[in-house]
Amino acid sequence: VLQLTLAVIKPDAVAHPVMMEALHQKILDNNFVIVRCKDLTWRRQDSEQFYAEHSERFFYQRLVEFMSSGPMRAYILAREDAILHWRELMGPTKVFRAKYTSPASLRGQFGLTDTRNTTHGSDSVESAQREISFFFPDFCMKEWMERK
Ligand code: CMP
Repeated sequence: VLQLTLAVIKPDAVAHPVMMEALHQKILDNNFVIVRCKDLTWRRQDSEQFYAEHSERFFYQRLVEFMSSGPMRAYILAREDAILHWRELMGPTKVFRAKYTSPASLRGQFGLTDTRNTTHGSDSVESAQREISFFFPDFCMKEWMERK
């Protein structure tokens, strides 16, 4: 089934042009269609709002700080089963697990720590909807789907 997902290249990776280029190429090599792409920098309050569900977790402060520390690149990607495929490509959240179990994944190759883990991807259809409209408020998912 054709899906859209939100993919984000986080500030740790955007800071390294070679890594950025490799990640962009990975998107193309894995048959994703880039529907939208933009560079942006979050204010701290954007970061807090986006990650509100993690507000009680021990890593929340460092996550919020990191995600508003510099530019990011956000993509809307389309593919069949885009959500799952992007998550597989990223690999596990925790960098040790990523390096151990999925060394070829994006986080396995480029992840630095559990926070500075290169990329983000939506984890369900509902979160893809929420996250796409958070990053791309002018994008109408329903309209895009109907045109396909
Ligand atoms: P992301 O896919 O953006 O969703 C939540 C983020 O929280 C996650 O990637 C990591 O960057 C961060 N995170 C999750 N678990 C931990 C952890 N144990 N320690 C630090 N950061 C974490």
